[in-house]
Amino acid sequence: MARPLVTVLPGDGIGPEVVAQAERILRCVAPDVELVRHPIGGAALDAFGHPLPESTLDACRKSDAVLLGAVGGPKWDNVQPVRLRPEIGGLLALRKGLGLSANIRPAKTFPALLAASPLKGEAGLVDLVVVRELTGGIYFGQPRERREQGRVAVDTCIYSVEEIESVARVAFRMARQRRRLVTSVDKANVLETSRLWRETVERVAEDYPDVRLEHMLVDNCAMQLVRNPRRFDVIVTENLFGDVLSDEAAMLTGSLGMLPSASLRPDGETSTFGLYEPAHGSAPDIAGQNLANPIATILSAAMLLRLSLGRSDAAEAVERAVERVLDRGLRTRDLAAEGEPSIGTAEMGDAILQEIRSNR
Ligand code: IPM
Ligand code: MG
Repeated sequence: MARPLVTVLPGDGIGPEVVAQAERILRCVAPDVELVRHPIGGAALDAFGHPLPESTLDACRKSDAVLLGAVGGPKWDNVQPVRLRPEIGGLLALRKGLGLSANIRPAKTFPALLAASPLKGEAGLVDLVVVRELTGGIYFGQPRERREQGRVAVDTCIYSVEEIESVARVAFRMARQRRRLVTSVDKANVLETSRLWRETVERVAEDYPDVRLEHMLVDNCAMQLVRNPRRFDVIVTENLFGDVLSDEAAMLTGSLGMLPSASLRPDGETSTFGLYEPAHGSAPDIAGQNLANPIATILSAAMLLRLSLGRSDAAEAVERAVERVLDRGLRTRDLAAEGEPSIGTAEMGDAILQEIRSNR
């Protein structure tokens, strides 16, 4: 790779603040990487009349990887038509437009944060990955509309064998590098799409005889995650279930502000392009106040270095620095216990940078 190009999409709410910290880290550990910002979300809608300007999508297509902050906020909650809403016309269109159907969300507790987990004691030491199907299901199915003067609403959940197969393969490949257990989550006792999901995953599993497969209903999975999350290794599930369960899994590790994510093309063996973003969203209530936790975005940048740029050493340097800063007791507000002091977004960025520099 000559000079890698990373498109940076700060977006809305806390997006610009957390992305700014991740950019500082990237400039430090990979100074040759070119970072170019482009608008997305509500910010792009206000400035250019569309939440995903053609120029932004083009820039992403031409780059080696994309780093995104977050999109959306109360200012744009009632935007009409719906296809111009930052989430739908911005983020979802970006994921779809780039063909990123496999979303990887690793939830791993940093030992120093065990006390921040809502679970008691060792139960909070989670190490699992949610593999979420990202460009299908009820998020994209047609029709989606209001009927009968707005008094009835329809969304459509639709899945094809191909869509299920490709995300299932991502999960099995990932399990091979971990503890070799795939939990496929569905609602097969009610939904037809879930029955197709289950059948298809069963078939794919035949190609991975060294990986154990189990099926779990989504309500049971939500319960098992708070009861005994340590039993999970790789969870693979459809778009909407994955959205819900990944927030739950993130919180088990101490804060939603800790969960990074990578959205990849399912042909992960031939393509390394990816979109990296924190799973937490735009948090408009704390935007612009230097209160947000930048770690999920910084860890997303580490995933970018490893998976898209092939720079494992730089990725590890970032991850180790995050760990040491937490070991030193530094906490943003979301991680601090009641009465415990906390630091701001930029100060957390400073501390992580300092750790990286002092360990070279
Ligand atoms: C996420 C977010 C998005 C989603 C929203 C912002 C559309 O919650 O990445 O999990 O639902 O996918
Ligand atoms: Mg979500």
